[in-house]
Amino acid sequence: MSADGKIADDQRSPARFGSERDRLHLEARWAEADAVLIGAGTLRSYGTTLLIRQPHLVAQRRERGQPSQPVQIVCSASGQLNPSDRFFSQPVTRWLLTSATAADQWRDRPEFEHLVIASPDPATPLDLRQAIALIRAQGIQHLVVGGGGQLVSSLLAADLVDDLWLTVCPLLLGGRCAPTPLDGSGYAQAIAPRLALLSVEAIADEVFLHYQIKRSNLGSPSPLGDLKPV
Ligand SMILES: NC(=O)c1ccc[n+]([C@@H]2O[C@H](COP(=O)([O-])OP(=O)(O)OC[C@H]3O[C@@H](n4cnc5c(N)ncnc54)[C@H](OP(=O)(O)O)[C@@H]3O)[C@@H](O)[C@H]2O)c1
Repeated sequence: MSADGKIADDQRSPARFGSERDRLHLEARWAEADAVLIGAGTLRSYGTTLLIRQPHLVAQRRERGQPSQPVQIVCSASGQLNPSDRFFSQPVTRWLLTSATAADQWRDRPEFEHLVIASPDPATPLDLRQAIALIRAQGIQHLVVGGGGQLVSSLLAADLVDDLWLTVCPLLLGGRCAPTPLDGSGYAQAIAPRLALLSVEAIADEVFLHYQIKRSNLGSPSPLGDLKPV
């Protein structure tokens, strides 16, 4: 994000303002994951996804028994995605998290290998706890969310986020409508989620932050532990 807390400019252009160091940092985080979840707005903005290219990261994945690329899961209640986006020809396995009616448009097509259905129709909010349980039941243990702000805010509201990685980049974007890491309706400060800083590193003009979401029952297992697939 920019130093004023924006993840894109107010045109919602793809964010390409991080340094090469930041890109490598992102690639390393994604390389740890079994799957990466991105919002449809992020896919519409970039038209593509980040691939793991560093040979040592690919080798580590293989040693852990993971495929060379994490599964890419797109969250779209409407299912309105452009199959001619370059994303659909990248060498990755794609899943779609969506509503039942939107899933019908993508069934028996080559773009998505697996459909995760978490609401009856696009007008009904996705049940994200059910969705994560279904994804977990498919063998996904470590899920990284690649943004954007709408998806992250709904996952946080459902208490499904454990860690937050932020890179503060040396520019100011401003713009009332420019997206932030956490959009949605926000929190009153008295009940805002609190964070514990796990690490901070300043490299050149960027700051790399790793936070953990504080829970009142910290020390007890992740809330995902009691989720059952349905
Ligand atoms: N700087 C960075 O690192 C970074 C990273 C990622 C994104 N970005 C930027 O962020 C912007 C996109 O963020 P955004 O907040 O607009 O979009 P987003 O969160 O990526 O996607 C929003 C869309 O995802 C689906 N969605 C998300 N949460 C949902 C929920 N709880 N229930 C149902 N559907 C849900 C909906 O798709 P449908 O409308 O299809 O139903 C919704 O319209 C772009 O400008 C992108 O460039 C920046």
